Amino acid sequence: MPGIVIVGAQWGDEGKGKVTDMLAERADVIVRFQGGNNAGHTIVREGVTYKLHLMPSGILHPGKLCVIGNGVVIDPKVLTDELDELRHRGIDTRALRISANAHLIMPYHMMLDEAGEAKLGKLQIGTTRRGIGPSYADKASRLGIRMQDLLDEKILKKKIVAALEPKRLSLRPFAKDPALDLQSMTDEYLTYGHVLEPYIADTSRLVLDRLDHGEMVVFEGAQGALLDIDHGTYPFVTSSNPVAGAACTGAGVGPRDIDEVWGVAKAYTTRVGAGPFPTELDGDLADEIRERGGEYGTTTGRARRVGWIDLVALRYAARLNSLTSLAITKLDVLSGFDTLHACVRYHSAEGAELDGFPYHQTVLHHATGEYAELPGFDEDISGCRSESELPATAREFLRFIADYVGVAIVLVGVGPGREQVIWMDGAESSAVRLAA
Ligand code: IMP
Repeated sequence: MPGIVIVGAQWGDEGKGKVTDMLAERADVIVRFQGGNNAGHTIVREGVTYKLHLMPSGILHPGKLCVIGNGVVIDPKVLTDELDELRHRGIDTRALRISANAHLIMPYHMMLDEAGEAKLGKLQIGTTRRGIGPSYADKASRLGIRMQDLLDEKILKKKIVAALEPKRLSLRPFAKDPALDLQSMTDEYLTYGHVLEPYIADTSRLVLDRLDHGEMVVFEGAQGALLDIDHGTYPFVTSSNPVAGAACTGAGVGPRDIDEVWGVAKAYTTRVGAGPFPTELDGDLADEIRERGGEYGTTTGRARRVGWIDLVALRYAARLNSLTSLAITKLDVLSGFDTLHACVRYHSAEGAELDGFPYHQTVLHHATGEYAELPGFDEDISGCRSESELPATAREFLRFIADYVGVAIVLVGVGPGREQVIWMDGAESSAVRLAA
């Protein structure tokens, strides 16, 4: 049985939650391996909308082991609120397990995120202000506080003191904030520890045991390849690695435990926050795609920047992730355009033609797209359930993407509902066979 990684192949918000949710139905284990509550997955099931931030998508399927891996940074307030909300809506959350090694987001991380962005002024990254970067920074500085620390008051207090010490200057503007009081912070976090204790485990071992027993494990990525701290559009990135390789470090499994890697991409492109975006559109066309696609952030409600599909970037994402399959979402949003555009090359400010994703940030900042123009389709495709029901021009658009990127499309999304998908003909994949 396979280990399947699902990653974003653009700048996040590609619809990974829905794809994961579909595979989760047949999987035995669902693992989140990086990011935190900067992510937001919207899943529509039987007309009910669930917005998940930290919880693996599989939580909506009773009895599946759902794991928050060591690579995730956890805001325990958000997690306990999410657990309460799910329970309130009748979802059984007992199958959740949280890595004892996962790092925590502390109140001061959110303050530092806010202050860091304010200091950057015009140069700001446009973070979600959830404390993600400062929490990963503390992890790398070995000043992080982990899930297991919530279970011992003495250790917790000592670690908070040690973590606060080098931040004193930056936190001075927040000195009077009651959230920074050592005793009340310790008490608050001990309370979270008390609530979360039954879920804390050695999740690496749990996942490997399941793989050893031939069970199907889905590793669910957050954000997307172009927001990767190493390979994305640095510094306009998140502070973790949303690429497939991070499933190993963030869940505690080895590369040989991964059999397939699915990249999820929209039929167009969106981006939240600042940073280069060569295919970005503005004006009426951008507004139209944004409105039709409901392109507003799940986590922050921010309007997303929108543009045509960028195949140069998508091919780069395919390489970084060694994608075995592509899932293309929101194809229905493009219905009604006479001509569809797909970026196949960049032009630098100096006029150079760039077939590959440039390594130099300045080049990317000034790059513009060269587009293949493909005939559009007018039909409402939201009711299509097989490849043959799609208009010929929509099929041609998909074929063009797959040929250019060199990765087969296995799944196409044609609407927000979980049933609004098309499994592509001849998609050879053990996951497809299981899920379709
Ligand atoms: P951070 O992850 O909050 O530090 O934000 C860093 C950058 O990543 C910002 O541009 C955010 O808008 C972006 N980002 C973080 N999480 C997501 C996501 O789930 N979807 C899309 N963009 C995200």
